Amino acid sequence: MYLLIPAAGSGRRMGSSRNKLLLTLLDQPLIAWTLLAADASESIDWIGIILQPQDRADLQTIVSNLSLSKPVHFIQGGATRQDSVYNGLQSLPPMAKHVLIHDGARCLATPNLFDRCAEAILHCQGLIAAVPVKDTIKVVDQKTHLITSTPDRSQLWAAQTPQGFEVERLQQCHAEGRRQGWEVTDDAALFEQCQLPVQIVEGEETNLKVTTPVDLAIAEFILRQRLA
Ligand code: CTP
Ligand code: MG
Repeated sequence: MYLLIPAAGSGRRMGSSRNKLLLTLLDQPLIAWTLLAADASESIDWIGIILQPQDRADLQTIVSNLSLSKPVHFIQGGATRQDSVYNGLQSLPPMAKHVLIHDGARCLATPNLFDRCAEAILHCQGLIAAVPVKDTIKVVDQKTHLITSTPDRSQLWAAQTPQGFEVERLQQCHAEGRRQGWEVTDDAALFEQCQLPVQIVEGEETNLKVTTPVDLAIAEFILRQRLA
């Protein structure tokens, strides 16, 4: 299974001066944990890291220090996550039929989650790992900050990655997204806009996306528990 790891962000919400994926989590750079989990997954046999030029040297060093068992390819990122994944899809070998896309920032996803997604994508066109939301979610008017509605929580799931797709279909959806000017924060949204089905795979509660400093602290706590 082919795996693309978008890692070309800046980590603005982390408030750090460099890409948050290069920050230290326990004794390793954050992205190293993501790579180790992907490498430990039985189903992944090709890894593409999508990066910004200024991070290339650091990421190459991290990868070579990890001595992973699978080949790692370095792919030029874009201005948005959507652009980065678009580039990643262009860089897949022509024989790639299915792909998993997993945010570098979700460094706690387990090899088992990769394996379950890799298995499931052989039987559907598109999927995402997701978990039922625990909070009650409000839709709020941007200007007045008044609540406009409260969606029924039983229908709400929090989207995670890995997300898996048939490569050709996802490429078509990305191309359509560009033509139409759709701006999305995950790949499933492009699939949905194209009226294609996206299956839910049960995600992991611990599979958080490290976004703000508190996430880094929580991730460290979870990793410590796992390694204890
Ligand atoms: N990403 C990417 N290319 C971009 C922007 C983001 O590959 N142009 C990646 C990030 O590196 C991350 C994933 O997409 O692994 C999810 O994005 P997010 O958590 O938003 O990371 P950042 O964009 O780096 O953070 P922020 O939005 O706070 O700046
Ligand atoms: Mg971002």
